[in-house]
Amino acid sequence: MRITEKYKGQEETVRQIAYIEKAGVYVEALSHKLGRKPACCVTTFGCQMNARDSEKLAGILEKVGYELTEEENADFVIFNTCTVRDNANQRVYGRLGHLNSLKKKNPHMKIALCGCMMQEPSVIDKICQSYRFVDLVFGTHNIYKFAELLVRMFESDQMVVDIWEDTDQIVEDLPVERKYPFKSGINIMFGCNNFCSYCIVPYVRGRERSRSPEDIIAEIKTLVSDGVAEVMLLGQNVNSYGKNLFPPMTFAQLLKEVEQIDGLKRIRFMTSHPKDLSDELIQVMKESKKICRHLHLPLQSGSTRILNAMNRRYTKEQYLALADKIRKEIPDIAITTDIIVGFPGEEAKDVEETIDVIRKVQYDNAFTFIYSKRTGTPAASMENQVPDAVVREGFDRVLKVVQDTARERVGLLQGQVLDALVEEVNEQDQSLMTGRLSNNTIVHFKGDESLIGQIVPIYLKECHGFYYLGEIQE
Ligand code: 5AD
Ligand code: SF4
Repeated sequence: MRITEKYKGQEETVRQIAYIEKAGVYVEALSHKLGRKPACCVTTFGCQMNARDSEKLAGILEKVGYELTEEENADFVIFNTCTVRDNANQRVYGRLGHLNSLKKKNPHMKIALCGCMMQEPSVIDKICQSYRFVDLVFGTHNIYKFAELLVRMFESDQMVVDIWEDTDQIVEDLPVERKYPFKSGINIMFGCNNFCSYCIVPYVRGRERSRSPEDIIAEIKTLVSDGVAEVMLLGQNVNSYGKNLFPPMTFAQLLKEVEQIDGLKRIRFMTSHPKDLSDELIQVMKESKKICRHLHLPLQSGSTRILNAMNRRYTKEQYLALADKIRKEIPDIAITTDIIVGFPGEEAKDVEETIDVIRKVQYDNAFTFIYSKRTGTPAASMENQVPDAVVREGFDRVLKVVQDTARERVGLLQGQVLDALVEEVNEQDQSLMTGRLSNNTIVHFKGDESLIGQIVPIYLKECHGFYYLGEIQE
């Protein structure tokens, strides 16, 4: 199934634009048949990278003539999947069963699957055998061919499956439908070379590839001229950005260039690997007026023995020293993290080490995960897998400490006036607006929709655990 592509990025863009037109003809014919514009729904599982990919899928679907909807009872439904933990896979299978019943009522309905889960051969086997009603399946490496794949789907009466093992392509300038007008993710690199022993990402997203700084800057400038105030630079390991570019460039240097863009108000990035976080980056963050006061710095475990087995390439002491340095240089920064409980061989004393790090670093928030065995990763074949009940117990202990320390940290902001980017109307109470502080804390306050996309000073009146109730400071 492996295809090696020789196209240069731009020629490929031109080809795909031709396919967009061709797919448009099919959608128009469907529109005549239905007597209305056909509806499409893009459902995203997983991380920010997937969310950004979904905006690209939505951009193409709109361009070919579909109307976007949140309803899964649509004429075209695509699941952009995640496979980082098994529960994400199980959710997809569950939701697919539901789609099948909808499709029986709507003969025009088309169903597509894409994303990380589709890069696993066992998943493809299962879909081909047990989910025959799916019309189109593709993976992470050929997402830029979505328009072409749509045409193939319209021209075929069988399931179209197109999965590549890898790619060296980065295709730019295809249509994108952004979820928020005022903020946007932007890919600065793809793939990961770290091979943490539990993680499936390097297998499904391929080797690390950095986009050129010129392309990144040009894309951000276009976004800013289109009303974007905040960008999130996306990569599995942004701290190793640019190592393979010619000439090489550091992530800190890229940030400095992004900072120069007129009209851009805020810069975020995700995700940092502690082993690659440089002093240069800390200095650039410290001196910046635009880089947000937030660093997501996945710990995974506080036990050096487990970190070693995870192939994380830092010790507990090195991590603590790094967090300490960051807090000293940038005292108002929020540090968040990811933690895995139940990695093979983990014992109660290792969990205690993790808890010790949480207490010392005082995270503003931590995403705590139960270890999930991913076939094909080195950890999956380790013999000392931890029994579920033991994992559960350790998980609950970690979660309790995470929640207590995070509440304490977030509470420190009480009484301050800080800028928030206003994002949306509060879902529960329509009289409130929801905004985000530079340090990523959420705040709700009285206001109206006209504020969306603006940065306003907010008095942080009441801390409610992970968020604040505040008031606009006139
Ligand atoms: N099991 C549990 N959590 C995992 N993560 C990655 N792989 C696994 C796994 N096999 C978590 C890590 C990573 C986050 C995105 O997902 O904590 O930082
Ligand atoms: Fe997975 Fe480790 Fe790469 Fe993160 S750095 S994507 S955890 S292999």
